[in-house]
Order: sequence, then C-alpha cells, then structure tokens
Amino acid sequence: MSMDKIVALCKRRGFLFPSSEIYGGLNGFWDYGPLGVELKRNVKEAWWKDMVAAHDELSQLEGAPSPFQMVGLDCSIIMHPQVWKCSGHYDLFHDFMVDCRESKKRYRHDQVRGRWLEGKGQKVFVATQVGGEEGLKETETKALKFLGMRSKQAGELVWASELVSLTTVKDFAAVIAPDAATLGTLTEPREFNLMFKTFVGALSGEEGAAFLRPETAQGIFVNFKNVVDSTRVKTPFGIAQVGKSFRNEITPRNFTFRSREFEQMEIEFFCHPKESAQWYQWWRDRRYRWYTNLGLNPQRLILREHLPEELSHYSCGTADIEYGFPFLPPGEFGELEGIAHRADFDLRSHQEGKLVKDAENNLIVEQGEDGKPRHKGSGKDLQYFDDRVRERYWPHVIEPSAGADRGTLAFLCEAFAEETLEGGEMRTVMRLHPRLAPVKAAIFPLVNRDAMPEKAQELYRSLKADFAVQYDDGGAIGRRYRRQDEAGTPVCLTIDGQTLTDQTVTWRDRDSQQQVRVPLGEVESKLRTLLKPTSA
Ligand code: GAP
Repeated sequence: MSMDKIVALCKRRGFLFPSSEIYGGLNGFWDYGPLGVELKRNVKEAWWKDMVAAHDELSQLEGAPSPFQMVGLDCSIIMHPQVWKCSGHYDLFHDFMVDCRESKKRYRHDQVRGRWLEGKGQKVFVATQVGGEEGLKETETKALKFLGMRSKQAGELVWASELVSLTTVKDFAAVIAPDAATLGTLTEPREFNLMFKTFVGALSGEEGAAFLRPETAQGIFVNFKNVVDSTRVKTPFGIAQVGKSFRNEITPRNFTFRSREFEQMEIEFFCHPKESAQWYQWWRDRRYRWYTNLGLNPQRLILREHLPEELSHYSCGTADIEYGFPFLPPGEFGELEGIAHRADFDLRSHQEGKLVKDAENNLIVEQGEDGKPRHKGSGKDLQYFDDRVRERYWPHVIEPSAGADRGTLAFLCEAFAEETLEGGEMRTVMRLHPRLAPVKAAIFPLVNRDAMPEKAQELYRSLKADFAVQYDDGGAIGRRYRRQDEAGTPVCLTIDGQTLTDQTVTWRDRDSQQQVRVPLGEVESKLRTLLKPTSA
C-alpha cells in the first residue's frame, strides 16, 4: 500500500482536498469532496446507528454486564471558559515544542527522533521527523553532508544508537535539527497550549476570551444534570455526541491523521463505581469489534492498553485502538480511538473545582496560593441518586472517544487495492464496506438505445429515495465499472437486452467482479441485505 497513491486517488476522485487550495492551502485543514463527504457521513451514521439510534436498551448485549440506555447530545463548540479551567485543559492541554533558529521551523519535542553518531572526536545527534527505514536513510544523508563525506563512504559512519526520541537528549548543543545543517540550533522545549483562543462579542480583552472546544466530551459532562433531569435515564447509561473539535497542533501531518480541525464521536458512559471496571473491559472489546465489522483487517488493528506512566491526568485506565497506517514504519500504529476509564474526575471537577492527585493518589481540589480552589467549579450538585441500590454517588465514566476523520482515513487506506485483471489490465478498487461506500449501486443502460436508458432510469428513480445510487450512461461498460471500482461502489446494475424480455438485470459484485442475473423486483431487498449492520 502506498500512501502517495491513496492521497492521489483521494484528490482525483473527490474524496479529499487541501482546504483553501487555490490560495496554497492551510496546513492542518482539509475539505471533503463529493465522495468524501458521503464516506465520512456514512462513518458517522454507522457509529450513531450502532451506538445510539438502534441500541436495544431492553436486551443485554453479548458480554455486557447488564442492559443500558443510550441518548445523544449536540453541544456548542464555544463554551464557558471555566469549563476548560475545571477540566484541566487550560493548565495541562499542551505539547512541548522546540524551535529551530536556523530553519525557523517548529517541531513537537516528542515527534523528533534521531541517531547518535560518533566521528571526528565528537558525538552528535542527527535528527529527523521520520521513522523506520526512511529515518535511517535521512539521518545517513545528513550525517554524510555534515561530515563532508561522499555517499560511498556511508559504511565508514559510526552510529552509536538506533533511532531514539529527542526527549532522551539532554544536550541540545549536540543536535543537528531535522532541517538544519549546523549544530545546536534547537531551542529548549517550551509548553504550547493547543486550544484555539477566540473572543466572544465586542470584548477583545481577556474578559471576552473563550476557546474552541478541543474535545466534545466536556459538553456532555456539563450537561449531565440536564440530561438526568429531562429524561428517564438511569445508570448505567451513555450520552453520545458527534461534532467538530479544534486543536492547534504544532506539526499537523500524515494527511488528515493529525489535523487542526477534526470531528470526534464520543460516548460518556455513566455507571456505578463498583461496576466500572467490567464496563471498561466491555467497551474496549466492543469498540474494537466495530472497526473489524466495518472491514478493518485485525492484522492491522491493535488494542493497546496504556502503561501507567502514559495515562492522562484524569484516567485510571486507557486502551487505544490503533491502526497500521501505510505512512507509518512497519510495526508502528496510529491511534483511531481511546477508551478511557475516567472514574469520577469530570463530574467532581465541574462541581467542586479543578482536581489534582495528592501524595496518596487521591483526587483533591487544587488550591491556589490564597488557599482557595485554583479553578472554582460550578457548585451544582452533579451526584446521582441510584434508587436500585439507594445510594448517592458520582457515577464513574467510561469514555470511548473516536476520531471520525481518523476512522475515515483508516477505512480509505484499508479499502485501497490495485489489481491486475485477466488480460493484463490494471484496476484500482476501493473495497469499502457497503455500509460506508459513498455510492451503494450504480445503474447503467448497456447501450443508449432500444429502451434501455428508459428502463435504467426507472430503476434509478425507484431506488434513489432510499439508497445513494448513481446513474451512468457515459462510455464503454468496462470504463464505467472502473469508475465505480475507484469510488468503492459495491454493486453495478446493468440493464441490457434481456432485461426487456425477462425483467432481470445483471448484478455485478465489485470485489469478485462476478455477474449474476437478479429479477428487478428483488434488487431493493438484496441491497437492503447488503447494507444490514452486523451486530457489534
Ligand atoms: N475526550 C478524550 C479525547 O479527546 P483524545 O485521545 O485526545 O481523547 C480522541 O482524542 C480521538 O480524537 C483520537 O483517538 C483521534 O481519533 C481523534 N483526534 C485527536 N486529535 C486529533 C487530531 N489532531 N486530528 C485528527 N483526529 C484527532
């Protein structure tokens, strides 16, 4: 799989374009084209349907500790600034960056890596932004240039380490930065808050300052009481939200993988503290299955439990679902979704004020120098009375938090294939799961005469209200198949001479390319079967 080919197909066929491209684009921002918008909507709709709309609250799903309820929310992107102070984002949501005085480029400290090189009596750290074979090659080229050697002398270089992170380097005077030619041009790491700041109304000072949300989760926590008071939900229950989030990433890269504007699909699942460990396990496994049910290959998809030192300030257990994207070196994986056990951190923070852990690892309200809470909570009672057990408590939270754009990118990468057909012709095919495919069926008249177009248009119109179907009468039939293969359309239906006599069409399967004859009256039910969700 080549990432360049996938990116080229996305542009050529209208899945994805760089944002504001005619002005040179804007790093970290992307636009979905006519096929891409349908694909991403299908990803979000599959998620919403499987997790919320079609959830059966009367039955106990396989392996789940009990039945549960699910409801949805759609919150504003700009919220009261105190939300981000109590959530911890104001103080803690930063990455460390380093600047290069020579190239004027900025890097995320933990994303720069390099190799130690010994030569001419000195030890230098040759840095790069890429990993794997490419990183080894790049550091070799840079080292040769730095030492004034020729490429055929590469074997004489004495490497003192493998590729390691810049975070392991203490002496920055020994570093050749990724885009520099001289030593010691990187500044010491500095904190950089990732939230986009804006100003609400006519106030341009700190008084009017607010932030674009960096996650959708907090809108759910601050509405917890509204949802409990306005519906009949009882623990265990989940609140789901899909929406835009914004992070001023230092180095957006890898196509849409790390963007500055992206969409999240998040669930905050509220349960009794004693049941939370079981729910955590169940949600991890269920969310993993969701991706494999929609076509991701388990050989490229891992469920990775975080080490204690990796856990976020709020989490007492997190697992990531990670995919082996083609832009990563073999053996490396990129996060699609995190499933976190957040305990009662969020509800307590929004009630009492920003929390920190004390020496015994207990959550306490962080105090300022004046002895008052550093960031004051709402003071609203966010506890829940559980009449099952006649107890009052802050529910514990399990949070499956997925990225809609990363999921979409993984499905695109997984789907991409190039094949040589009988006769030597090449075809590019996007093997998207039928539920995700932007077009579900393409309808062709074999030729533009003998009443075939009229019959094909009749079929198109009969399906269009319920299915995303496309009509195509342009060019040879083989070319029309190729166009639909690249768009990922699972079925092509051709009206031919036989249709006019026996009311059957050819049903051509994208992946096997096999054609069977199907009665016109059965097309709709066959399409419905194809698009039926697998239970997750
Ligand atoms: N509420 C928890 C939370 O936001 P996260 O791991 O920071 O957790 C969840 O984000 C998901 O959002 C990630 O697994 C990823 O899919 C997506 N995501 C995060 N940052 C992103 C970015 N810069 N570009 C695209 N997707 C991103």
